[in-house]
Amino acid sequence: RKANHYDFVITETNVTRLCQEKTILTVNGQFPGPTIHARQGDVVFVNVHNRGRKNITLHWHGVDQPRNPWFDGPEFITQCPIQPGANFTYRIVFSNEEGTLWWHAHSDFDRATVHGAIVVRPKLGSAYPYPEPHRDIPIILGEWWNVNVEHLLEETMRAGGDFNISDANTINGQPGDLFPCSRKGTFRVPVERGRTYMLRVINAGLTNDMFFAVAGHNLTVVGSDGHYLKPFTVGHIMIAAGQTMNVLLHADRAANASSRYYMAARTFATNMQIPVNNSTATAVLEYSDAPPSAGPPAALPDLPAVDDLAAATAYTARLRSLATDGHPVDVPTRVDERMLVTISVNALPCATCEGPINGTRFAASLNNVSFVAPAVDILDAYYSSVRGVYEPDFPDRPPLFYNFTAPDPADELLFTKRGTKVKVVEYGAVVEVVFQGTALGAEPHPMHLHGFAFYAVGRGFGNFDESKDPATYNLVDPPRQNTVSVPAGGWAAIRFRATNPGVWFMHCHFDRHTVWGMDTVFIVKNGKTPDTQMLPRPPTMPKC
Ligand code: C2O
Ligand code: CU
Repeated sequence: RKANHYDFVITETNVTRLCQEKTILTVNGQFPGPTIHARQGDVVFVNVHNRGRKNITLHWHGVDQPRNPWFDGPEFITQCPIQPGANFTYRIVFSNEEGTLWWHAHSDFDRATVHGAIVVRPKLGSAYPYPEPHRDIPIILGEWWNVNVEHLLEETMRAGGDFNISDANTINGQPGDLFPCSRKGTFRVPVERGRTYMLRVINAGLTNDMFFAVAGHNLTVVGSDGHYLKPFTVGHIMIAAGQTMNVLLHADRAANASSRYYMAARTFATNMQIPVNNSTATAVLEYSDAPPSAGPPAALPDLPAVDDLAAATAYTARLRSLATDGHPVDVPTRVDERMLVTISVNALPCATCEGPINGTRFAASLNNVSFVAPAVDILDAYYSSVRGVYEPDFPDRPPLFYNFTAPDPADELLFTKRGTKVKVVEYGAVVEVVFQGTALGAEPHPMHLHGFAFYAVGRGFGNFDESKDPATYNLVDPPRQNTVSVPAGGWAAIRFRATNPGVWFMHCHFDRHTVWGMDTVFIVKNGKTPDTQMLPRPPTMPKC
């Protein structure tokens, strides 16, 4: 095993976007932050020095961290935050992942600007399951707000009708040519004619799923969330918030064709009653033989419309695991625990708020429980048997029955209960979670699980029918992911083996839903042998 070390200094940095200068939180003054390079099986150390003015934590999104929840990162779930002036070294253990993952802050809304790519190559001496690309190009899709993110968080917690739509989508931190004062900064990708490039596309957006395409070029999708897929070629991809997609781009335009092409990212959102940022971020693909005098690219790529549900659904249906001898799948066929989890946006009483009903604020829930983060972390409380921090009775079924897709929910469904409820599972149990979207917040929800790459075995519209729908599951070659897009008014089913002991967060990757309570935690118990048990608590853990 090879150990690599990175120093990440959290600092406030001035940047100019959309004609305004603003102070943002960065790592090492870079936005997006530095790329972490690893090979499958590596251990990487990242020493985070907090030179900012607020508490922060970092998370390694999609890294399973076997037996190692101490360094997973979500604040008050697996650690207390790193305080200003302090530092903390994360130990990141790569096991099965190969492809693209990413890292981001996991405290408040800090990840809006504190994020970067993780590139995981095959072990030395092993090859990609496709011809080696000439170069890797991280493409981080994000969102930009003119207001600062502390303000955004504050608004979100007392939200009225104003959802604080982002002011621009971005590609590698830049809105691109279509925005004022943005042309100079537009991200450029130099390519040589005849070569193949690996675009490592990451959706780091806080509130948006996205479509992405490159004018004049098809994209061959070969991986997602750090696992290989059966290759397929498309004109555009859809990438839910939190996901990654590995796509090969062949720089194959004829020499007499034009030499500059737009790459573009546009929001995908189905419920247009919820205000969304429907802007298009651009970058430029530039052939090395482009004459310096050539102007900007002629046309945007063909992207589906913002609310093109059919395009998004058709894309997602094409994701299948590679499933070869070198990259086998191992889908559990027997289930120990099937959980039916409804996803809602709700209301909570708040005298001074102007939420969905006057005198309420927005909340969100899983099975009618709005998760409240405790004041000390759940992992520590579990490890040291401290009582009163969480309750181990997260409901496996929705406590109230209703037609999930009915437009007008009863009041008892609109109002939710607050609690810090977790689900405890035995080591090795096969868990199936069926996420059911409801009419309460009819948006797709990118549900993300820490600690595991699950199999996304099924997906459909309407109400999940336990007597029929499991028969439609793909148990042959379902994609292995850490974030599944649950369709608005529909459901998605995932399966995983609980062979990673520890404390693992599960939440919607839209940040306003996370802070509104669309979260829960899995506690996976230790197995019987030492190699099936959590590692001991490192002495360096930050204190609350
Ligand atoms: Cu990408 Cu809990 O996060
Ligand atoms: Cu959500």
